[in-house]
Amino acid sequence: MTFLWETDHQAAENLRLALGHGMRVVESAPAAHRSLADDRREILLVIGPDIDLTSALTVADSLRLERPEVGVVLMRRRLDVGVLAQSLRAGVREVVSADDLSSLTEACSRSQQLSTRLAGLAGGSEAAEGRIVTVFSAKGGCGKTTVSTNMAAELALDRTTRVLLIDLDLAFGDVAISLGLMPERSIADVVAMAGHLDAEGLASVVTHHDSGLDALCAPAHPGDADRIPAAVVAEVLRVAKKVYDVVVIDTPPAFTEHVLTSFDACDASVLLATLDIPAVKNLRLALDTLDLLGHPKANRLLVLNRADAKVGLSVDDVTTALHHELAQEIPDNRAVTAATNRGVPVVLHEPKNPVSLALKALVRERLRPAIKMAVESPMPVSKAAHRANGRRFLRRAEAGSQA
Ligand SMILES: Nc1ncnc2c1ncn2[C@@H]1O[C@H](COP(=O)(O)OP(=O)(O)OP(=O)(O)O)[C@@H](O)[C@H]1O
Ligand SMILES: [Mg+2]
Repeated sequence: MTFLWETDHQAAENLRLALGHGMRVVESAPAAHRSLADDRREILLVIGPDIDLTSALTVADSLRLERPEVGVVLMRRRLDVGVLAQSLRAGVREVVSADDLSSLTEACSRSQQLSTRLAGLAGGSEAAEGRIVTVFSAKGGCGKTTVSTNMAAELALDRTTRVLLIDLDLAFGDVAISLGLMPERSIADVVAMAGHLDAEGLASVVTHHDSGLDALCAPAHPGDADRIPAAVVAEVLRVAKKVYDVVVIDTPPAFTEHVLTSFDACDASVLLATLDIPAVKNLRLALDTLDLLGHPKANRLLVLNRADAKVGLSVDDVTTALHHELAQEIPDNRAVTAATNRGVPVVLHEPKNPVSLALKALVRERLRPAIKMAVESPMPVSKAAHRANGRRFLRRAEAGSQA
């Protein structure tokens, strides 16, 4: 994820290989400032070889004070001692020759590592790590994708929370469609990096959305789902926690091995039902399963979607059946499907719609506090061991039922 300041479109495209697919081009100093102010996750500005030196150094100098974690790499057609000395004084991290693309890649990589350390993202301390939120319902069609995409978009709206949305509905995921994305890469591309995935590898497979969030999309072909081991999901989550503040996971309606992995790693869950008896029954069973897995009760947020539908079942009936309070009710509204069909989350498309207000309240009043609580009281080791036992039990039960 890099900004390139370059006015020549073709020259910019020629650098895409060296700078990565996530590269975004800005064409002026004000645009560079604006983009870096808008997206606080960006930590690298590369300045093209034909940008006037004085303008380039003025930007570098001001970034040094405004965003010290942002690295500036300057490209020049000719390197001489004068340019190097001036650049150093302005706080440019590296100056590279315009015709040496491998030096450019290396300089960018060094700068990103330094920025990551400066931003305290790679310190490895528990407090610096992002939080994982699994969105689940055991019955299909309850609104997992709607809620996860909208929560992720709402979280990213402040432009300071770095958000990754992962589509774990590997065979039929529709996060990409719901966000109007055309992903070039998917989680299937992580398989080739298994065992040595790092922040840059992860950045190369995510797709950036205008709302500010990144999405790790499901494979385009359902058949590719079988090629993705659950261990890859665990590795993605380990790396993603170092890079993002919040990782939101959309899931298929089943406790697959991948979903269990996401529950193992998650700090909070959003569990959905609608006003119909199969959905409520399945949510009850899901809660029992999570108890078995030792998943902490405190960070479970139960959400009733389409809660105002007149279908002969009341909200009270649901809370009585679940023995659990509801974190949020979301009304039924046709704007949701209209927004999905346009590929825009409803919280962005119609922020004042009752559904958007409910989703915003869910994020503000329940999810953010739940995540904060998880930071302050991480899961004790005994609970982690309990989870592992629960998973073993679940696998044995599944094996028994298949025999
Ligand atoms: N509050 C709502 N009001 C109106 N329509 C809704 C609401 N929530 C979801 N929908 C619609 O219901 C359908 C199913 O929603 P969604 O795809 O989010 O469910 P899901 O749980 O992800 O489904 P699946 O299990 O198939 O992945 C979609 O067409 C969506 O637009
Ligand atoms: Mg879905």
